[in-house]
Amino acid sequence: MDICTTKAQLRDALTSIRAKDATLGLVPTMGYLHDGHLALVREARATCDHVVATIFVNPTQFGPTEDLATYPRNEARDLALLKAEGVAAVFVPSPEEMYHPDAETIVDTTHLSEILIGALRPGHFRGVATVVCKLFNIVQPTHAFFGRKDYQQLAVIRTMVRDLDIPVAVVGVPTQRDHDGLALSSRNVRLTPEHRAAAPALAAALNWAETTLPRQPMTAEEVQTAVTTQISSAHGAQVQSVDVRDAETLAALSGPIITPAVILLAVRFGDVLLIDQRVITP
Ligand code: PAF
Repeated sequence: MDICTTKAQLRDALTSIRAKDATLGLVPTMGYLHDGHLALVREARATCDHVVATIFVNPTQFGPTEDLATYPRNEARDLALLKAEGVAAVFVPSPEEMYHPDAETIVDTTHLSEILIGALRPGHFRGVATVVCKLFNIVQPTHAFFGRKDYQQLAVIRTMVRDLDIPVAVVGVPTQRDHDGLALSSRNVRLTPEHRAAAPALAAALNWAETTLPRQPMTAEEVQTAVTTQISSAHGAQVQSVDVRDAETLAALSGPIITPAVILLAVRFGDVLLIDQRVITP
C-alpha cells in the first residue's frame, strides 16, 4: 500500500492504475477509523478494481468553537486497518499540502448548505464541499463512497457533482451501528460512560418511527414531537434539532406523511454532537 503525503506522490502512485483504464474507488475520511469507514472501504473494494483512501482532518469544515483540536487521531492504526483491507494507496496530506496559502476559491451548495445542520454549523458544508471537490480533482476516482449516516453531507455532495458535472459515481453506504443501535462515529469515544449509555435513545426513537408509521398514519409534526419527547427523556440529551423532511429533496414537510420522509437528528451529549437519520415510508 502506497502512503502518500503529497499530491505529486499520489499522482505517481496512481499512474499505472489510470493507464490501465481500471475503476478507482475513493473513500475520503478524517481518520480514527471504525467499522463504518471499513464498510465504505469494503463496498469500494467490491465495486472497483482499486481503492484509494484519504485521511485528512479538514480544518475548513470546523467552526471556530468546534472540536478540531480534540478530534481523535490514530494514524498508525488507521494505516494498518486500510492495508489489511487491501487499499492500494492512502493520501495523508498536511493542511499546508492540501490548501494553497492564498487559496480563495470555495465550493458551496447555496441552499442545502444553509439548512438543518448547516444552520447549526455555519460554513461546515462549504468546507466539506470544497475539500471533497479538491479530493475528486486530486484522485480523479470513477466512484466515491460516503456513509448514509451523514445524510445531508451526502445530499450536498450529490448536488455538487450534479451541478458541476463532476464525472464520478457517488455511492451511499448504509449506516453501521453498535450492538445497541448507536450509529458508529469517531466522536462516540468522547462520550462519558453515562452519555454513552443514554445515546442509543436516538436509534430507539428512529426505530419507533420506522415501525409505527406504516401501521398508523402520522403527520410530520406528530413524528417530530414524539421523537423529540422520546430523546429528551434520555440522560444528558440536549436535542438540537429533529427534522422531518422529504427524503429526496430535504424540503420541509407538514401534514400527513404520504411520501418517503427522512428524520434527521442532531443531539448534544455534553460537548459531543451526535447525528443520526432514518428514511421512513408510510
Ligand atoms: O465525512 C467525513 O468524514 C468528512 O466530512 C469528509 C467527507 C471526509 C470530508 O472531510
